[in-house]
Amino acid sequence: MKAALDAPEIHRGLDDVYVKETSICFIDGERGRLLYRGYDIRDLARHSSFEEVVFLLLQGRLPNRAELESARAELAAARPLAPSVLKLLRSMPEHAPPMDVLRTAVSYMSGFDPERDDSTQAANMRKALRITAQLATIVATYERIRKGQRVLRPDPTLGHAEDFVRMVTGKRPDPTWARMMDVAMVLYADHGMNASTFGATVAASTRADLHSTIVAAIATLKGPLHGGAIEDALGLVETIRRPEAAREFIVNKLRNKEKVPGFGHRVYKTYDPRALIMKEYARQLAESKGDDTYFRIATAIEETVVGELASKRIFPNVDFYSGLVFHRLGISTDLFTPVFALSRAPGWTAHVLEYWEDNRLLRPLDWYVGPKDLAYVPLDERA
Ligand SMILES: CC(C)(COP(=O)(O)OP(=O)(O)OC[C@H]1O[C@@H](n2cnc3c(N)ncnc32)[C@H](O)[C@@H]1OP(=O)(O)O)[C@@H](O)C(=O)NCCC(=O)NCCS
Repeated sequence: MKAALDAPEIHRGLDDVYVKETSICFIDGERGRLLYRGYDIRDLARHSSFEEVVFLLLQGRLPNRAELESARAELAAARPLAPSVLKLLRSMPEHAPPMDVLRTAVSYMSGFDPERDDSTQAANMRKALRITAQLATIVATYERIRKGQRVLRPDPTLGHAEDFVRMVTGKRPDPTWARMMDVAMVLYADHGMNASTFGATVAASTRADLHSTIVAAIATLKGPLHGGAIEDALGLVETIRRPEAAREFIVNKLRNKEKVPGFGHRVYKTYDPRALIMKEYARQLAESKGDDTYFRIATAIEETVVGELASKRIFPNVDFYSGLVFHRLGISTDLFTPVFALSRAPGWTAHVLEYWEDNRLLRPLDWYVGPKDLAYVPLDERA
């Protein structure tokens, strides 16, 4: 393609630009529908597990019983970290943000991957499982280290979500809570060509290795307009403190043209189906803990934003109620985005592997609007 001579149409934010065909994830933003490989997210949330969804996203179909067992075993076997990675986690600067630690650790552990120099499809599929397995252990291990607690080794007899909560909190979660974390991981496992998946895809298009694509994805997820919103959403609820104060606080915020974290979406113009599931979990947890203050603040925020911004079609996205759920499950606030990352690993890797089936270097253009033909002024003659 030749560069345009007349000012081209610029797609700010790449709105409405398609970069590939996919059979991984379908989002109908008008009707609030989300499918993984053709299956409705609500069915997957009801019947499936994170391990099954990992298989589904990577292999393109649901596993049979034996395949699921073997996917579970493979993930469990890959959860332990190499001693050198543990050493790295222990040497991270005090108070390092866990997202930075995760990004650094993935970059570091690529050097120790047993198939580092093998980029065949089969090796990449195994790496995808290893990366998915180890992200959870990195996040949990760093949490224990920074709190001065004993690091817990992964337990291969537990499901991935349950083991993650156990490694973070130090105790096996109640089965209902373990299931909530499992479903949250299912809900976060993929979401089409979002910013972090695009980040991974740009790196993939240069034929960088799989670990590098995940480092790019983690870096892109960190920002408050993407994964970081999940932490800000809980912060907002904590700041408001009383349900009665929510309406006025939010109206003022909107008057000041500030964005409300956990609301709005580039694709959804109605309720994000994942938000509805997380809202129900947040309600159940508030009820079971006998304290619904945060939940009532959250619903008051929702009512205000949805009412005030009806003409802009702004609704809660998945991050708004997830923070409440993770908080109740005993996860520290600055681990929310890392939990998003470790859940999204199968989606990122599935998209990268799909992109490599028909790879093309991603190389957009920018339209130059600066000066041309300036005369070079020698250093001594400059004012
Ligand atoms: C996610 C997000 C970046 C998508 O935004 P987008 O497609 O770029 O949409 P825009 O930012 O252009 O928003 C369109 C309009 O809705 C408003 N809007 C969007 N999200 C809003 C929010 N969370 N709070 C208040 N107003 C919001 C914008 O101010 C804008 O209004 P304007 O037309 O008067 O300028 C945006 O909704 C946002 O910043 N949300 C908060 C962060 C968040 O929750 N991120 C997680 C996403 S999963």
